[in-house]
Amino acid sequence: MIKLSKLATAVALVAAANAAMAGEVEVLHWWTSGGEAKSVGELKRIMQGKGHTWKDFAVAGGGGDNAMTVLKSRVVAGNPPAAAQIKGPGIQEWASEGVLANLDATAKAEKWDSLLPKVVADVMKYKGNFVAAPVNVHRVNWMWANAAVLKKAGVAGTPKTWDEFFAAAEKIKKAGLIPVAHGGQNWQDFTTFESVVLGVGGARFYGDALVKLDQKALTSATMTKSLETFRKVKTYTDAAAPGRDWNLATAMVIQEKAAFQFMGDWAKGEFTAAGKVPGKDYICAAAPGTANAFTFNVDSFAMFKLKDATAQKAQADLAAAIMGTEFQEVFNLNKGSIPVRLNMDMAKFDDCAKLSSKDFVETAKSGGLLPSIAHGMAVMPAAEGAIKDAVSQFWNNDKMSVADGVKSIAKAAATK
Ligand code: BGC
Repeated sequence: MIKLSKLATAVALVAAANAAMAGEVEVLHWWTSGGEAKSVGELKRIMQGKGHTWKDFAVAGGGGDNAMTVLKSRVVAGNPPAAAQIKGPGIQEWASEGVLANLDATAKAEKWDSLLPKVVADVMKYKGNFVAAPVNVHRVNWMWANAAVLKKAGVAGTPKTWDEFFAAAEKIKKAGLIPVAHGGQNWQDFTTFESVVLGVGGARFYGDALVKLDQKALTSATMTKSLETFRKVKTYTDAAAPGRDWNLATAMVIQEKAAFQFMGDWAKGEFTAAGKVPGKDYICAAAPGTANAFTFNVDSFAMFKLKDATAQKAQADLAAAIMGTEFQEVFNLNKGSIPVRLNMDMAKFDDCAKLSSKDFVETAKSGGLLPSIAHGMAVMPAAEGAIKDAVSQFWNNDKMSVADGVKSIAKAAATK
């Protein structure tokens, strides 16, 4: 009896200690589709398991533009969330405002420097200090295909070149199906655009044109060819594309209404949530001409400076959880991405993730690993926004000549 009561006291003490350090984490993100919500639900579960309160701050809108607008107003009002989904060079911009917290204590204790590829760790740091925690590696240059639709239309295998792609698209159209499921929102137009540029021009051209924003590349014959190809892709989308959300476009492929979608592997999260199996129900393949390249998109959470000690503790626990093995596995299994933490066991991952993992390593060596401009990895947010608008205007205005499209994209890149 005495022993039992001692044990009870000890348990009560531990619980009290945990409760004392339990805090609230408010987390801003834009993960609202089926697969995305399941994924972020895992982070919530892990944080609740540590005794913390999860305050969800979800702002719908694929690609995150809406979320960034809302974040700005909260920070300007002096009331930032504990963590926000901020990516790429945007992290530097926020850090330079002096509003981000220093995560070095957690990063040191958890050995982040040795667990992350250097290219990723560098993006998470400002002036040498960690200010953000990376979640995953998404690959953007994917083409998703419905196996049954291809079969119905008599298309054997996924197209490897743009010529093969257009030949397949013709067959699918003739079979009365939609060749390309597209959601007509500017960031989705931009996502397709970067894959087309990569496929038409290759890795070095992509780097010159869309990372270095080199005017010679941006006004070259290769850019003209890219825009011609981009416009031709549009002719294989349906009339209801404008305004459609990306996950509804993915649903068209899942439901055998459309053959292909050009989208990053968060689309795989939708296939997974619908119980679909890669290699059987659907196929993941690199967009035509891009098999030797990898446009990466690393999701990450930047943490804001907080005053309250329990909130700071919860925030540090969130940072540690994000880089922990449990989260890295379960989140990425649902999200469609691969773990950003090195040396993770990939046994539970499917063939698409395994291919992504292999290509990530190989393209890092070959020079084919490139930051996605459409997903905030390549250039500062202002330049990205301007180029995105120019690309989308070209996509939406069939009367604009290719020459004018090239000029307006190059101009947008030059003014920022
Ligand atoms: C994010 C993904 C997200 C997608 C659609 C991308 O920019 O990196 O995590 O699933 O947008 O919302």
